[in-house]
Amino acid sequence: MANNPNPGLLSRMLMRKSVEQVQRESETSTLKRTLGPWNLVFLGVGCIIGAGIFVRTGNAAALHAGPAVLLSFLVAGIVCALAGLCYAELSSTLPVSGSAYTYSYTTVGEFAAWIMGGLLLLEYGLAASVVAVGWSGYVVSLLGDYGLVIPPELTGPYGHALMRDGVAVIGADGNPVTTLFNLPAFLICLLLGGLLIIGVSESAKVNNIIVAIKASVIIAFILIVGWYVIQHFDALKANWDPFIPEPTGKEGEYGWGGIFRAASIVFFAYIGFEAVSTAGQEAKNPKRDMPFGIIGSLLVCTVLYILVSVVMTLMVNYKMLNVPDPVAVAVDALGPEWGWFAKTIKVGAIIGLTSVILVLMYGQTRIFYTMARDGLLPRVFSTVHPKFQTPWVNTILVALLTAVSAAFFDINTLGDMTSVGTLAAFGIVCLSVIWLRTTHPEIPRGFKVPLYPVLPALGIVACFALIFTVENRVLVFFGWYVLAAVVLYFLYGLRNSQLQKGLQQHD
Ligand code: ALA
Repeated sequence: MANNPNPGLLSRMLMRKSVEQVQRESETSTLKRTLGPWNLVFLGVGCIIGAGIFVRTGNAAALHAGPAVLLSFLVAGIVCALAGLCYAELSSTLPVSGSAYTYSYTTVGEFAAWIMGGLLLLEYGLAASVVAVGWSGYVVSLLGDYGLVIPPELTGPYGHALMRDGVAVIGADGNPVTTLFNLPAFLICLLLGGLLIIGVSESAKVNNIIVAIKASVIIAFILIVGWYVIQHFDALKANWDPFIPEPTGKEGEYGWGGIFRAASIVFFAYIGFEAVSTAGQEAKNPKRDMPFGIIGSLLVCTVLYILVSVVMTLMVNYKMLNVPDPVAVAVDALGPEWGWFAKTIKVGAIIGLTSVILVLMYGQTRIFYTMARDGLLPRVFSTVHPKFQTPWVNTILVALLTAVSAAFFDINTLGDMTSVGTLAAFGIVCLSVIWLRTTHPEIPRGFKVPLYPVLPALGIVACFALIFTVENRVLVFFGWYVLAAVVLYFLYGLRNSQLQKGLQQHD
């Protein structure tokens, strides 16, 4: 392709960064290789545990799967494991930062990389908004425990009926009160954006402490509530009857359809395991340790999630779980003497969710940064602050984007968009494995997906099958989003890409 002075449009869209170039970039990296296998598992768990388990599990159980939400976790876990194996192979072959975006650029080509950039904006940027809304739910609930009330109109998305204890609140005029704006979610995005600009994300030690807090809260929940459930099993087992509630006839409401619908919701809870692959340049032994980090963190979280959902749906009836703080609701059911534990859970959730928002926003800024260096976004996105050494303009934009979407949209729509975008990204990653094995069979691979090509092919099918369980409204919105990305590629990306100009990536 490089030898042809006038390549056609299709060849230009399929232009690739060479594997050698990407590997060279990795070798000349100035980042220190300090992360061992368990550091990588910790890094993964740090990104994974967040609003998915602390918030969205409740909605998935209450409205879609009932107690069978644990099967939804299993389904979503299997889909992620298939994609995870593909991530592991790519990261052991191309250990560079930039993750799925770079993988696509090196394998399928520039157009796929551009689309991947758009999907990653959903996976990181929009996911940060989802977690910010979840964060807001726990903050409002904790403040309420201490008698501090934020005006309820300022705690939810625009135009939603305000609910209290599952009942719509009626105003003086006889109409339901609607929320205007999620102020706490808005503020936390701006605050964390500010911290990212001054370079706060770099502390691995703080990350380890926060991961330990999150994991302890979850494990304490499983042990304490689980112990209570075992003691009172005869009374509580009624909550699992029926285990799979009868379908209502409406698509995705209970029955097996509901289990798969809930799988696309709780899929959100696994997003983040692939963040391990972004640490390729900092791993001591990427070939061996990256697969361990990815699959290990996925396994740890699957076990925790299934245990949490078993305990939660036995402790309280699934219908009570459609609340912003379902984990705390399950603890409240232990009785008033456990009030301190419910508050501890809320504090743990707030700390844990804060770190997830930070990591997701950080990831988004670095993807924009890499794309700008490749010429696919305006140069200003890679402008580094002279004092703080961070991509500050891009960080301001990411903070504003996440803050505004967290403030005005509801968590279910945002979460579904994130799940759909991420599933599509995972599907492309599985495709990239097949592509790279076909075009570059000779490259040494530290880890190879077993049962090739069956597992990557199954990964593609499973990701796309799960996408189609999501509400039509969200699918239509997603369709428009991808179309807009395609148009923007021809208007901007294709014309400005460094690769198209025959230039080397500038450092
Ligand atoms: N998996 C992450 C969460 O649940 C994104 O918050």
